[in-house]
Amino acid sequence: MVVDSRCDKTPDRNMALEFCRGTEAASMAAGRWMGRGDKNSADGAAVNAMRYMLNTIHMDGIVVIGEGEKDEAPMLFNGEKLGTGDGPQVDIAVDPIDGTRLTALGLSGAISVVAIAPRGTMFDPKCVFYMDKLVVGPEAKDMVDIEAPVAENINMVAKAKKKDVCDVTVVVLDRPRHTDLIAEIRAAGARIKLIPDGDIGGALLTCKSERGADMLMGIGGTPEAVITACAVKALGGGMQGKLWTRTEDEKNCAIGQGLDFSKVLTLDDLVSSDDVFFSATGITDGDFLTGVRYESERIKTSSLVMRSKSGTVRYVEAIHRPKKLDAISGIDYKDCR
Ligand code: FBP
Repeated sequence: MVVDSRCDKTPDRNMALEFCRGTEAASMAAGRWMGRGDKNSADGAAVNAMRYMLNTIHMDGIVVIGEGEKDEAPMLFNGEKLGTGDGPQVDIAVDPIDGTRLTALGLSGAISVVAIAPRGTMFDPKCVFYMDKLVVGPEAKDMVDIEAPVAENINMVAKAKKKDVCDVTVVVLDRPRHTDLIAEIRAAGARIKLIPDGDIGGALLTCKSERGADMLMGIGGTPEAVITACAVKALGGGMQGKLWTRTEDEKNCAIGQGLDFSKVLTLDDLVSSDDVFFSATGITDGDFLTGVRYESERIKTSSLVMRSKSGTVRYVEAIHRPKKLDAISGIDYKDCR
């Protein structure tokens, strides 16, 4: 291969590869708590490990989607600075465990995830915890409208993907608030994949045709929505959202902060940059990532690493040596008992 030295298209730094070490670390720490029925300890272990690794990265990072406000979340809180301070200015969205309950119960689908975008380009949901979401793969990204009837969107996706409506599969979080949505989807003739938790992973399934899901619909977390938007950008899919609250008080607080509940948030509203990085590592086994495996001398992890600018999607299988890491890292990956 000939490389033209005059070429000004030199590939630049892919920060997602560095952030992958953060999601790997969080997964290895959290995975020790799998099936132990203790959500908080799993989350604490993941947060500590992720924070430790992300602070080694050369960047001037600010957590815009974190574990909550400073007083309630001692680490990885919104506004926390991360990194060495001497690199690109970036917004960081973290979810050290998407699926804390899944982890505690040993159920499938828990992942550790981080998304990064240039400073000021991620949507700030302020005090709003929930968003109504519609996610589709690349074929249907310009065909759906979150304000249209459910059946109409399902028909449009079927048309875009050249399949029968009865073969369209919609991922929905299994929640009482979705009773009507579930009935409408079934009435439209589509199938449903109900997930107990973890709508970031659920959304990703829609962008990979071989994973057997075509759409994600319904209300889930706003932090997860922003992270999902970063992943969907990297995979070329489509996403729309509308803020949603449980109570009038919550709604009034959000309106007071300038948020608009009638607005349809597009993918670009959720993350406006086209240079977005995303890394996820499996904690428990899931539809697209294997969970952490602990063996006598090694730990295995499986990650998905993506960048929207290049469109590169990497699956990273890593083998870690806990004894060696013990000597060079401040994270304790030993059994938590
Ligand atoms: P956590 O693991 O952070 O608790 O989130 C799990 C999750 O299922 C998300 O994937 C989803 O967006 C959100 O919870 C839905 O919220 P709720 O459980 O309150 O319906």
